[in-house]
Amino acid sequence: MYPDPILITGAGRRVGLHLAQRLLDDGAQVVAHYRTQTPDIATLQARGVTLVQGDLDSTEGALAVATAVREATPRLRAIVHNASAFTPSADEPHAAAAQYRHFFAVHMLAPWLLNTELAPLLRAAQTTPADIVHITDIFAERPNPQFDLYCSTKAGLENLSLSFAQRYAPQIKVNCIRPGPILFQPSHTPEIRANILAQIPLGHEGGAEPIYRALRALLDNDFITGAALPVDGGRHLAR
Ligand SMILES: NC(=O)c1ccc[n+]([C@@H]2O[C@H](COP(=O)([O-])OP(=O)(O)OC[C@H]3O[C@@H](n4cnc5c(N)ncnc54)[C@H](OP(=O)(O)O)[C@@H]3O)[C@@H](O)[C@H]2O)c1
Repeated sequence: MYPDPILITGAGRRVGLHLAQRLLDDGAQVVAHYRTQTPDIATLQARGVTLVQGDLDSTEGALAVATAVREATPRLRAIVHNASAFTPSADEPHAAAAQYRHFFAVHMLAPWLLNTELAPLLRAAQTTPADIVHITDIFAERPNPQFDLYCSTKAGLENLSLSFAQRYAPQIKVNCIRPGPILFQPSHTPEIRANILAQIPLGHEGGAEPIYRALRALLDNDFITGAALPVDGGRHLAR
Protein backbone atom coordinates (compact mmCIF):
# COMPACT_ATOMS: atom_id res chain seq x y z
CA MET A 1 0.00 0.00 0.00
CA TYR A 2 1.05 3.65 0.15
CA PRO A 3 3.91 4.34 2.60
CA ASP A 4 2.72 7.87 3.45
CA PRO A 5 -0.67 9.08 4.72
CA ILE A 6 -3.50 10.48 2.63
CA LEU A 7 -5.24 13.65 3.82
CA ILE A 8 -9.01 13.76 3.25
CA THR A 9 -10.96 16.94 3.99
CA GLY A 10 -14.55 16.74 5.22
CA ALA A 11 -14.10 13.13 6.37
CA GLY A 12 -16.76 13.23 9.11
CA ARG A 13 -19.66 11.90 7.05
CA ARG A 14 -20.94 10.48 3.77
CA VAL A 15 -18.43 10.38 0.89
CA GLY A 16 -15.42 11.67 2.85
CA LEU A 17 -16.05 9.17 5.64
CA HIS A 18 -16.38 6.34 3.11
CA LEU A 19 -13.09 7.30 1.45
CA ALA A 20 -11.33 7.28 4.83
CA GLN A 21 -12.85 3.92 5.83
CA ARG A 22 -12.04 2.24 2.52
CA LEU A 23 -8.46 3.52 2.50
CA LEU A 24 -8.07 2.07 6.00
CA ASP A 25 -9.63 -1.22 4.87
CA ASP A 26 -7.03 -1.40 2.12
CA GLY A 27 -4.13 -0.70 4.48
CA ALA A 28 -3.47 3.01 3.89
CA GLN A 29 -2.75 5.59 6.58
CA VAL A 30 -5.24 8.45 6.75
CA VAL A 31 -5.18 11.98 8.09
CA ALA A 32 -8.85 12.90 8.39
CA HIS A 33 -9.91 16.53 8.48
CA TYR A 34 -13.37 17.19 9.88
CA ARG A 35 -15.41 20.16 11.07
CA THR A 36 -18.16 18.65 13.22
CA GLN A 37 -17.42 15.99 15.84
CA THR A 38 -19.54 12.89 15.13
CA PRO A 39 -19.59 9.30 16.39
CA ASP A 40 -18.06 8.34 13.04
CA ILE A 41 -15.06 10.52 13.83
CA ALA A 42 -14.57 8.52 17.03
CA THR A 43 -14.62 5.27 15.02
CA LEU A 44 -11.95 6.66 12.68
CA GLN A 45 -9.86 7.62 15.71
CA ALA A 46 -10.26 4.10 17.12
CA ARG A 47 -8.84 2.77 13.84
CA GLY A 48 -5.67 4.86 14.23
CA VAL A 49 -6.54 7.78 12.01
CA THR A 50 -4.85 11.11 12.70
CA LEU A 51 -7.60 13.69 13.14
CA VAL A 52 -7.43 17.38 12.30
CA GLN A 53 -10.39 19.56 13.21
CA GLY A 54 -11.09 22.89 11.53
CA ASP A 55 -13.45 25.18 9.68
CA LEU A 56 -12.31 25.85 6.11
CA ASP A 57 -14.54 28.91 5.76
CA SER A 58 -11.71 31.36 6.52
CA THR A 59 -8.07 31.93 5.61
CA GLU A 60 -7.07 31.48 9.24
CA GLY A 61 -9.09 28.29 9.52
CA ALA A 62 -7.54 26.73 6.41
CA LEU A 63 -4.02 27.78 7.44
CA ALA A 64 -4.59 26.31 10.90
CA VAL A 65 -5.59 23.01 9.28
CA ALA A 66 -2.41 23.09 7.18
CA THR A 67 -0.32 23.73 10.30
CA ALA A 68 -2.00 20.87 12.16
CA VAL A 69 -1.34 18.52 9.23
CA ARG A 70 2.33 19.56 9.13
CA GLU A 71 2.59 18.85 12.86
CA ALA A 72 1.01 15.42 12.34
CA THR A 73 3.14 14.15 9.46
CA PRO A 74 6.27 15.09 7.53
CA ARG A 75 5.01 13.49 4.31
CA LEU A 76 1.76 13.01 2.41
CA ARG A 77 0.96 10.55 -0.37
CA ALA A 78 -2.09 12.58 -1.43
CA ILE A 79 -4.57 15.31 -0.57
CA VAL A 80 -8.23 14.66 -1.34
CA HIS A 81 -10.29 17.86 -1.28
CA ASN A 82 -13.74 16.56 -0.44
CA ALA A 83 -15.14 19.23 1.95
CA SER A 84 -18.01 21.09 0.36
CA ALA A 85 -21.18 23.06 0.97
CA PHE A 86 -24.31 22.57 -1.17
CA THR A 87 -27.40 24.76 -1.07
CA PRO A 88 -29.53 26.44 -3.75
CA SER A 89 -28.62 30.05 -4.45
CA ALA A 90 -30.32 32.60 -2.22
CA ASP A 91 -32.57 35.21 -3.83
CA GLU A 92 -31.85 38.12 -1.49
CA PRO A 93 -28.62 39.85 -2.63
CA HIS A 94 -26.89 40.13 0.76
CA ALA A 95 -27.68 36.50 1.56
CA ALA A 96 -26.44 35.44 -1.88
CA ALA A 97 -23.23 37.45 -1.47
CA ALA A 98 -22.52 35.81 1.90
CA GLN A 99 -23.29 32.41 0.42
CA TYR A 100 -20.98 33.08 -2.54
CA ARG A 101 -18.11 34.06 -0.20
CA HIS A 102 -18.67 30.87 1.76
CA PHE A 103 -18.64 28.67 -1.36
CA PHE A 104 -15.52 30.47 -2.62
CA ALA A 105 -13.77 29.97 0.72
CA VAL A 106 -14.55 26.26 1.02
CA HIS A 107 -14.40 25.19 -2.64
CA MET A 108 -11.55 27.37 -3.98
CA LEU A 109 -9.55 29.31 -1.40
CA ALA A 110 -9.13 26.48 1.12
CA PRO A 111 -7.90 24.02 -1.56
CA TRP A 112 -5.52 26.69 -2.90
CA LEU A 113 -4.14 27.38 0.59
CA LEU A 114 -3.85 23.70 1.55
CA ASN A 115 -2.18 22.77 -1.75
CA THR A 116 0.26 25.65 -1.45
CA GLU A 117 1.07 25.06 2.22
CA LEU A 118 1.28 21.27 1.98
CA ALA A 119 3.05 20.85 -1.38
CA PRO A 120 6.41 20.29 0.42
CA LEU A 121 4.87 17.30 2.24
CA LEU A 122 3.69 15.84 -1.08
CA ARG A 123 7.12 16.40 -2.65
CA ALA A 124 8.66 14.58 0.33
CA ALA A 125 6.53 11.46 -0.29
CA GLN A 126 8.48 8.22 -0.43
CA THR A 127 6.82 7.22 -3.70
CA THR A 128 6.36 9.60 -6.62
CA PRO A 129 4.39 11.12 -8.13
CA ALA A 130 2.17 12.20 -5.25
CA ASP A 131 -1.43 13.28 -5.84
CA ILE A 132 -3.91 16.08 -5.33
CA VAL A 133 -7.50 15.11 -6.06
CA HIS A 134 -10.24 17.75 -6.11
CA ILE A 135 -13.77 16.42 -5.72
CA THR A 136 -15.86 18.73 -7.91
CA ASP A 137 -19.24 18.05 -9.56
CA ILE A 138 -20.67 17.38 -13.03
CA PHE A 139 -22.39 20.74 -12.47
CA ALA A 140 -18.96 22.38 -12.92
CA GLU A 141 -19.32 21.77 -16.65
CA ARG A 142 -23.13 21.64 -17.00
CA PRO A 143 -24.44 24.03 -14.34
CA ASN A 144 -27.85 23.98 -12.72
CA PRO A 145 -29.07 27.64 -12.62
CA GLN A 146 -30.75 27.12 -9.24
CA PHE A 147 -27.30 26.35 -7.83
CA ASP A 148 -25.28 28.88 -9.86
CA LEU A 149 -23.16 30.05 -6.90
CA TYR A 150 -22.24 26.48 -5.93
CA CYS A 151 -21.65 25.41 -9.55
CA SER A 152 -19.41 28.34 -10.46
CA THR A 153 -17.12 27.82 -7.47
CA LYS A 154 -16.81 24.12 -8.34
CA ALA A 155 -15.95 25.24 -11.90
CA GLY A 156 -13.36 27.58 -10.42
CA LEU A 157 -11.87 24.68 -8.51
CA GLU A 158 -11.57 22.70 -11.75
CA ASN A 159 -9.73 25.63 -13.35
CA LEU A 160 -7.42 25.90 -10.33
CA SER A 161 -6.77 22.20 -10.64
CA LEU A 162 -5.38 22.76 -14.15
CA SER A 163 -3.01 25.45 -12.89
CA PHE A 164 -1.80 23.21 -10.08
CA ALA A 165 -1.31 20.33 -12.52
CA GLN A 166 1.06 22.49 -14.54
CA ARG A 167 2.78 24.08 -11.55
CA TYR A 168 3.42 20.87 -9.60
CA ALA A 169 4.43 18.44 -12.38
CA PRO A 170 6.28 16.14 -12.47
CA GLN A 171 6.39 15.43 -8.70
CA ILE A 172 2.66 15.84 -8.07
CA LYS A 173 -0.30 14.85 -10.27
CA VAL A 174 -3.40 16.97 -9.91
CA ASN A 175 -6.81 15.73 -11.03
CA CYS A 176 -10.53 16.12 -10.41
CA ILE A 177 -13.25 13.60 -9.71
CA ARG A 178 -16.60 14.95 -10.91
CA PRO A 179 -19.39 13.16 -9.04
CA GLY A 180 -22.94 13.08 -10.28
CA PRO A 181 -25.79 11.61 -8.19
CA ILE A 182 -23.72 9.66 -5.65
CA LEU A 183 -25.74 10.08 -2.44
CA PHE A 184 -29.00 12.01 -2.39
CA GLN A 185 -29.23 14.84 0.14
CA PRO A 186 -31.92 14.68 2.85
CA SER A 187 -33.42 17.75 1.14
CA HIS A 188 -34.07 15.75 -2.04
CA THR A 189 -37.81 14.97 -2.14
CA PRO A 190 -39.14 11.76 -3.74
CA GLU A 191 -40.11 13.84 -6.80
CA ILE A 192 -36.60 15.30 -7.14
CA ARG A 193 -35.06 11.85 -6.69
CA ALA A 194 -37.30 10.36 -9.38
CA ASN A 195 -36.47 13.22 -11.74
CA ILE A 196 -32.72 12.77 -11.19
CA LEU A 197 -32.91 8.98 -11.54
CA ALA A 198 -34.68 9.42 -14.88
CA GLN A 199 -31.64 11.34 -16.13
CA ILE A 200 -29.06 8.67 -15.24
CA PRO A 201 -28.33 6.30 -18.13
CA LEU A 202 -27.02 3.67 -15.71
CA GLY A 203 -30.27 3.98 -13.81
CA HIS A 204 -29.39 4.25 -10.13
CA GLU A 205 -27.85 6.40 -7.40
CA GLY A 206 -24.12 5.63 -7.38
CA GLY A 207 -23.27 5.34 -3.69
CA ALA A 208 -19.87 6.39 -2.35
CA GLU A 209 -17.91 3.31 -3.46
CA PRO A 210 -17.55 4.43 -7.12
CA ILE A 211 -15.84 7.58 -5.83
CA TYR A 212 -13.38 5.41 -3.92
CA ARG A 213 -12.75 3.29 -7.03
CA ALA A 214 -12.12 6.49 -9.03
CA LEU A 215 -9.76 7.80 -6.36
CA ARG A 216 -7.76 4.59 -6.40
CA ALA A 217 -7.67 4.63 -10.20
CA LEU A 218 -6.12 8.10 -10.14
CA LEU A 219 -3.70 7.36 -7.30
CA ASP A 220 -2.50 4.16 -8.98
CA ASN A 221 -1.97 5.63 -12.46
CA ASP A 222 1.25 7.62 -12.82
CA PHE A 223 0.44 9.10 -16.24
CA ILE A 224 -2.77 11.09 -15.60
CA THR A 225 -2.67 14.74 -14.57
CA GLY A 226 -4.94 17.68 -15.39
CA ALA A 227 -7.91 15.38 -15.91
CA ALA A 228 -11.52 15.52 -14.65
CA LEU A 229 -13.18 12.14 -14.32
CA PRO A 230 -17.00 12.03 -14.26
CA VAL A 231 -18.42 9.45 -11.84
CA ASP A 232 -22.09 9.98 -12.47
CA GLY A 233 -23.72 6.96 -14.12
CA GLY A 234 -23.63 8.95 -17.35
CA ARG A 235 -25.81 11.82 -16.09
CA HIS A 236 -23.57 14.35 -17.89
CA LEU A 237 -25.01 12.91 -21.11
CA ALA A 238 -28.57 13.90 -20.14
CA ARG A 239 -30.14 16.77 -22.07
N1 LIG B 1 -23.37 13.42 -2.81
C1 LIG B 1 -23.45 13.58 -4.13
O1 LIG B 1 -24.30 12.98 -4.80
C2 LIG B 1 -22.51 14.53 -4.82
C3 LIG B 1 -22.80 14.97 -6.10
C4 LIG B 1 -21.92 15.83 -6.73
C5 LIG B 1 -20.77 16.24 -6.08
N2 LIG B 1 -20.50 15.79 -4.83
C6 LIG B 1 -19.27 16.23 -4.17
O2 LIG B 1 -18.69 15.12 -3.50
C7 LIG B 1 -18.12 15.53 -2.25
C8 LIG B 1 -18.75 14.73 -1.10
O3 LIG B 1 -20.16 14.82 -1.18
P1 LIG B 1 -21.07 14.58 0.11
O4 LIG B 1 -22.45 14.46 -0.40
O5 LIG B 1 -20.46 13.54 0.97
O6 LIG B 1 -20.90 16.02 0.82
P2 LIG B 1 -21.60 16.48 2.21
O7 LIG B 1 -22.48 15.44 2.77
O8 LIG B 1 -22.19 17.83 1.94
O9 LIG B 1 -20.33 16.60 3.19
C9 LIG B 1 -19.45 17.64 3.03
C10 LIG B 1 -18.35 17.56 4.06
O10 LIG B 1 -17.66 18.81 3.99
C11 LIG B 1 -17.57 19.33 5.31
N3 LIG B 1 -17.61 20.78 5.30
C12 LIG B 1 -18.60 21.56 4.81
N4 LIG B 1 -18.32 22.86 5.05
C13 LIG B 1 -17.13 22.88 5.70
C14 LIG B 1 -16.33 23.92 6.24
N5 LIG B 1 -16.68 25.22 6.18
N6 LIG B 1 -15.16 23.59 6.84
C15 LIG B 1 -14.80 22.29 6.93
N7 LIG B 1 -15.52 21.26 6.47
C16 LIG B 1 -16.68 21.56 5.86
C17 LIG B 1 -18.76 18.77 6.05
O11 LIG B 1 -18.51 18.81 7.44
P3 LIG B 1 -19.70 18.96 8.53
O12 LIG B 1 -20.11 17.56 8.86
O13 LIG B 1 -19.09 19.69 9.65
O14 LIG B 1 -20.80 19.74 7.86
C18 LIG B 1 -18.84 17.37 5.49
O15 LIG B 1 -17.97 16.49 6.17
C19 LIG B 1 -18.38 17.04 -2.15
O16 LIG B 1 -17.24 17.73 -2.61
C20 LIG B 1 -19.54 17.26 -3.08
O17 LIG B 1 -19.58 18.57 -3.63
C21 LIG B 1 -21.36 14.95 -4.18
